[in-house]
Amino acid sequence: MIGRLNHVAIAVRDLDAACAIYRDTLGATLTEPLPQPEHGVTVVFVNLPNSKVELMAPLGEGSPIESFVERNPNGGVHHVCYEVDDILAARDRLKAGGARVLGDGEPKIGAHGKPVLFLHPKDLNGTVVELEQV
Ligand code: CO
Repeated sequence: MIGRLNHVAIAVRDLDAACAIYRDTLGATLTEPLPQPEHGVTVVFVNLPNSKVELMAPLGEGSPIESFVERNPNGGVHHVCYEVDDILAARDRLKAGGARVLGDGEPKIGAHGKPVLFLHPKDLNGTVVELEQV
């Protein structure tokens, strides 16, 4: 059911500092920061030859990653994103298998302008999984 790895997301407190590491130290190509108020984050994508890294920082009050960056002041891997062909079919299959969908259970439009949803880490080996319909 799942397809390609779309990205690995790293949550950080200081997005500018994280970008400097990836751009200047690691020599990567980055997108411009994209505020996503509906997700409570600002994201930058690091473009790699075979995938992407998403650098994300809290945006606004009550950001869903606020507690994560408090627990991980140096930043940390927050989620992995897999591509799916049909996000509603994938969601229903996962729910039938006992996986919990975060939020209201309905897909939202993600940073690539495509439907995404997130799954609870307790059901998936301690890792938040994002599904993105491509
Ligand atoms: Co993501």
